[in-house]
Amino acid sequence: MRRPLVIGNWKMNGSRHSSVELAKGVASRFDAIAQEVEAVVCPPDVFLADVALALGGSAVGLGAQNVSQFESGAYTGDVSASMLAELGCSYAIVGHSERRACYGETSSQVAAKFATAQRKGLAPILCVGETLADREANKTLAVIREQISAVVETVGLGALSSAIVAYEPVWAIGTGEVASPDQAQEVLAFIRTLLGEKADETRLIYGGSVSAENAAQLFEQEDIDGALVGGASLHAEQFMAICQMAEM
Ligand code: PGA
Repeated sequence: MRRPLVIGNWKMNGSRHSSVELAKGVASRFDAIAQEVEAVVCPPDVFLADVALALGGSAVGLGAQNVSQFESGAYTGDVSASMLAELGCSYAIVGHSERRACYGETSSQVAAKFATAQRKGLAPILCVGETLADREANKTLAVIREQISAVVETVGLGALSSAIVAYEPVWAIGTGEVASPDQAQEVLAFIRTLLGEKADETRLIYGGSVSAENAAQLFEQEDIDGALVGGASLHAEQFMAICQMAEM
């Protein structure tokens, strides 16, 4: 059985104080309501240590929003996988569409980040997704295939089974326009067909305007094992409501 997983991507929001308060709010509610679900929060790197402390002994996990493809050296401004692991991270998001679009990250860079993260003990959360133009041109599955293949070529199929794949249509991120459960299911089922023998073990999640209002319907779909949540993860009650729905 694949354990449901709900990940909060806080992006570049908040202050040190608000991050600690949010982490405490999540931690204090989580253990009481969600035993069967795994919850992870991904704060800005500079607050990781504070958030780790605030999460204390709770079951809520810690992840990074990005990771360097390099292990160490002269890479000004980058943060390595081992630095993130040292701060308590067990996950790292790679290939988020905002990184691909704003910083020109290519699929091969994303694949290198995936490989480095995994080598250093972080479970990668690989984000893939098409733009609205891709979807309108009927290229959704081709784009997804290219993004997944780049990683498979670098790390091999087997490496995907312990990672997470997040389907995040670019047109649904931060727009309030969530993919329909059928649209999300179609793409995630397709992704599962790309993952070979161990496909049944890999957790596949959906992201893009997930909220307490639409999460339950998404989680009913066979291939949706959880969610990557942006905006709604900035509110402890909403994030917890989504976690609770993943359990049902
Ligand atoms: P959103 O962001 O929930 O605010 O749409 C999701 C994401 O970017 O991971």
